[in-house]
Amino acid sequence: MSATVLIGAQWGDEGKGKVTDILAQNSQVVVRSQGGNNAGHTIDINGVVYKLHLLPSGILNPKTLCIIGNGVVIDPKALIDEINQMVDMGLSVDNLKIDPRAHVIMPYHIKLDEMSENIRGTSKIGTTKRGIGPCYADKAQRSGIRMHELICAKTFEQKVRQNIELNNKLIQLVYGGEPIDANTVIKEYGEYAKILAPYVEDTTALLYNSIKSKKEVLFEGAQGTLLDIDLGTYPFVTSSHPTSGGACVGAGIGPTLIDNCIGIAKAYTTRVGKGPFPTELLDETGELIRQKGNEFGTTTGRPRRCGWFDTVILKYSVRTSGLTKMVVNKLDTLSGIGNLKICTGYKINDDIITEFPADLPTLELCSPIYEEFDGWDDDISNVKSFAGLPEAAKRYINRIEQLCSVPVWMIGVGPDRNQNIIR
Ligand code: GDP
Ligand code: IMO
Ligand code: MG
Repeated sequence: MSATVLIGAQWGDEGKGKVTDILAQNSQVVVRSQGGNNAGHTIDINGVVYKLHLLPSGILNPKTLCIIGNGVVIDPKALIDEINQMVDMGLSVDNLKIDPRAHVIMPYHIKLDEMSENIRGTSKIGTTKRGIGPCYADKAQRSGIRMHELICAKTFEQKVRQNIELNNKLIQLVYGGEPIDANTVIKEYGEYAKILAPYVEDTTALLYNSIKSKKEVLFEGAQGTLLDIDLGTYPFVTSSHPTSGGACVGAGIGPTLIDNCIGIAKAYTTRVGKGPFPTELLDETGELIRQKGNEFGTTTGRPRRCGWFDTVILKYSVRTSGLTKMVVNKLDTLSGIGNLKICTGYKINDDIITEFPADLPTLELCSPIYEEFDGWDDDISNVKSFAGLPEAAKRYINRIEQLCSVPVWMIGVGPDRNQNIIR
């Protein structure tokens, strides 16, 4: 029995939902530890597609305890909509627990997210406009509202009036927007509080006891290494910690309680939103990957930017999250693309760089150094073993493994629960 952290090893959308769902079938507990409904996790079970944003992907297994940890930011309306969606599909959410310390996304967070993006003009971050950044900013500024405050009517009203007074000044005087009405928010959120109150419980204690009693515990990642507010391509990042350290803080458990850390990658690279992307393909090959891989955002529907697999990024994920193994998803998307490339380093003038740069100006100067590989045309979406893959696909995976110095434990050849090769 063990505690396993899953993280996105690139810029998000690596197929974390699918892998979480697969592992959750043998886990007693699944935890979301950071981010909010900026995440979009797709799970495909025999053609039925579930799109989850806030609920842990373990929710599809009725016996799995699902935890929304202290590090998550919660839009109560979005969460209730998702709970209702599950119930409508005949699934139970009785096994959901929400930590009282998790912060609440308020209407002014969503408004400020949108307005601050608009004012940035050409230097937009390309956020999901879900209020994530402003909510984490309030948390850091110590003016945020936590779940235990949402469900305590008197405290909630007091804090909302105080926060709305201040935020309305910002909305009106700085951004020239319409103010938010405190009474409307208090009434609306009061209803959400009644629905969510039964789920609120100290999940840090629950989790500690689960790990100590040798239960199988899975920390579901959201976003990816390069969206980490400290380690990612700042400022084109999210406002939380998608790396493995974030799982500890965001779930309230110490690092010695974690046994494994699995990095999820795609067989190529994608990114939604703005910011540098050294291996981006702006040609027809990029378009082909986008169409074949259906690379359009689960949360916002935006086209994802596509490019070659980048081992500089993967090695950065290996060291910043202490990865013990890797999953490479969507190998099937590369069938029929033609010759393939893997980035092994970057070049700045005559210098060769093999570590991911710490600052954007340096990253922007980097041009990728590639190794070329033969492609394959065979449909691999029903292949069940590594030995059954075309030789060119085996060579591609083996080289990734060699360059990243971490075993590729699972290979995704389709979106379904069963379209995976486990080695
Ligand atoms: P997440 O945010 O990391 O959970 O990933 P998303 O769900 O946003 O995006 C991954 C997309 O790829 C989803 O539509 C998945 O159904 C799909 N997917 C996952 N693994 C595979 C795979 O191995 N092959 C194919 N073709 N699709 C996959
Ligand atoms: P999952 O869990 C991909 C990106 C946004 C934007 C930046 C900041 O599905 O992998 P935010 O709304 O968080 O302030 O936006 O982060 N972003 C994601 N990109 N997958 C995600 O989640 C993302 N969550 C945030 O596109 O560039
Ligand atoms: Mg996603």
